[in-house]
Amino acid sequence: MTMRIAVAGATGNIGTRTAAALEATGHEVVRISRSLGVDLRSGEGLDAALAGVAAVVDATSVESTDRAEVVDYFGSTTRNLLAAEGRAGVGHHVLLSIAGITRVAGNAHYAGKREQERLVEQGRVPWTIVPATQFHDFAATVTGWTEQDGVATLAPLLVQPIAPADVADILAEIATGAPQGRYRDIAGPEPQDLVDMARRTNDARGRSVTLVPTWSSLFGPEMAGNALLPGDNARIAPTTFEQWLAEQR
Ligand SMILES: NC(=O)c1ccc[n+]([C@@H]2O[C@H](COP(=O)([O-])OP(=O)(O)OC[C@H]3O[C@@H](n4cnc5c(N)ncnc54)[C@H](OP(=O)(O)O)[C@@H]3O)[C@@H](O)[C@H]2O)c1
Repeated sequence: MTMRIAVAGATGNIGTRTAAALEATGHEVVRISRSLGVDLRSGEGLDAALAGVAAVVDATSVESTDRAEVVDYFGSTTRNLLAAEGRAGVGHHVLLSIAGITRVAGNAHYAGKREQERLVEQGRVPWTIVPATQFHDFAATVTGWTEQDGVATLAPLLVQPIAPADVADILAEIATGAPQGRYRDIAGPEPQDLVDMARRTNDARGRSVTLVPTWSSLFGPEMAGNALLPGDNARIAPTTFEQWLAEQR
């Protein structure tokens, strides 16, 4: 059955791929982002966008590292989105979240994601929360945040990264099914060290960057150990980091 599904954050890394995955399986996609004229923070364009929509995937994000700002962003956008879904009679809210966020108290982005999860869980729209591990391009993203004059700092986090395309396929599958509450963590097939991932990504992309491993930059020791690894019964997606890397060359 063809469904009309809205993807919030449809111009982003995961949103773009989720919209494409849904369309590839014959569904109708409503793309939501500020650059497309719909702002979850102000609510502009939101009611019109959700007309006739059966399910919504929330893959929006914010880059700030200011805790209050991030919590306010995820809080206000989620409240507005859920309220509009209620008015439109949307039957399923799918939230892309992050594995392990309850284990790491200090990270500002995680505080925002916990607020987002809380609002979804307490909301009236039936929901599925999908906690994903870091994406295969996370190391490149993080070095991009700190890189200056050819030097980037990052923590040697132990992660089990997942391919963005695999995340999108899983979100598309879940959005077209019944609400499931808290879903299993989704992760890639192998653990990796974030510094090693950054080095291999830069090599593959022909970029020369000096990497400085540290716990004193964006991520502290509270994210060390097994904090970011997926839970026991995780759903393991197929694409390895090495396979993803081969596409970066
Ligand atoms: N990076 C990771 O390793 C990782 C791992 C697990 C989970 N996640 C989660 O995955 C989610 C998606 O991340 P991503 O990297 O795909 O995000 P992204 O590439 O930064 O894309 C963010 C999207 O949100 C839209 N957006 C931002 N503010 C908006 C607003 N006020 N109204 C409407 N649209 C808005 C942006 O479009 P406009 O700018 O046009 O508005 C864009 O389409 C995030 O919630 C993140 O926490 C990330």
